[in-house]
Amino acid sequence: MTDGGINLITGGAGFIGSHLVDFLLETGDRVTVIDDLSTGSIANLESAMAAAPGRIEFLEGRVSDVLPDLDPSRFGRTFHLAAAVGVRLVVDEPIRTIETNVHETSAVLEFARRGAVPTLIASTSEVYGKGTRTPFAEEDDVVYGPTTTTRWSYACSKAIDEYLALAHHREGLAPTVVVRFFNTVGPRQSGKYGMVLPRFVEAALEGRTIEVHGDGRQSRCFCDVRDAVPALPQLLADSGNHGRVFNLGRAELIEIGDLARLVKSRLSSESEIRLIPYADAFDEGFEDLRIRQPDLDRIRDAIGFEAKIALETTIDDLASILQTRKVDR
Ligand SMILES: NC(=O)c1ccc[n+]([C@@H]2O[C@H](COP(=O)([O-])OP(=O)(O)OC[C@H]3O[C@@H](n4cnc5c(N)ncnc54)[C@H](O)[C@@H]3O)[C@@H](O)[C@H]2O)c1
Repeated sequence: MTDGGINLITGGAGFIGSHLVDFLLETGDRVTVIDDLSTGSIANLESAMAAAPGRIEFLEGRVSDVLPDLDPSRFGRTFHLAAAVGVRLVVDEPIRTIETNVHETSAVLEFARRGAVPTLIASTSEVYGKGTRTPFAEEDDVVYGPTTTTRWSYACSKAIDEYLALAHHREGLAPTVVVRFFNTVGPRQSGKYGMVLPRFVEAALEGRTIEVHGDGRQSRCFCDVRDAVPALPQLLADSGNHGRVFNLGRAELIEIGDLARLVKSRLSSESEIRLIPYADAFDEGFEDLRIRQPDLDRIRDAIGFEAKIALETTIDDLASILQTRKVDR
């Protein structure tokens, strides 16, 4: 248990945030969650609220609306996970994406500097844009397409978040750490906003067509959320990590077509697998990367990070929670 005050978790009713809540409560900590439930769900916090009712506080609302009323001296650290997330959401609602990501992060950092609260800012592997080096290392150049291509607005908004966070540290206003999540997967993730694994699992469970975008030969790495979340408090705890950027993910690559076949066989599904051209799934001119893989040397050196949960286990657990929730509804 950390005794340095309450953990503030923005986006704590979301996928990654709710697992972080569970993890911190298990260690005996107290948490306050701020979430507007735009993509998250109170159902994600039900087990936490039942297990540790006295150590979790839930504040419903937008981060920037709630923070001005909070006293930063109550909080030992902040994990800022609230964001507009997912390729589908970004392409469909670019204004919401850009404004949420930049405005809310700015509010979190303003809060951090009121109390010099150590703050972790969730960023994304999307920040690398269409860089061609494999794997991506934290100091690599970032390469974006033109501003007329909406897809890059998510990356740019998160890059601004990173600049802001790092500047707060550099100017001595608050200790900050930036974490670039690569594809993070696991129970409670929703397929509604374009996330590939839950989309495939939901389709396979319902016997619907599993739609693979492009030719299915693009490769990604998938890290189970339960491997990822313990790294967050660990990174923030060591002042040697402050002012730095860390990749967080798993190094093993899998082609998306193979992922679809793995999900189908794991769940003994009758679903057909169909390739859908990017132009049909998104906008004309949508660009995707062939390979997205993290270089994990830095995080391994800093905290000995190693992802351990097999993708097969993640698929089984994700399917099991989706089935349970369906029965409950
Ligand atoms: N899941 C991934 O693979 C992945 C990959 C890269 C980066 N990330 C980053 O990790 C973080 C968490 O992502 P996630 O996958 O858990 O997504 P999520 O959508 O499940 O979680 C985001 C949460 O933030 C809340 N939220 C959004 N805007 C808000 C606002 N203005 N005020 C209050 N709450 C708000 C949502 O309701 C949701 O509960 C995000 O910052 C995301 O960019 C995730």
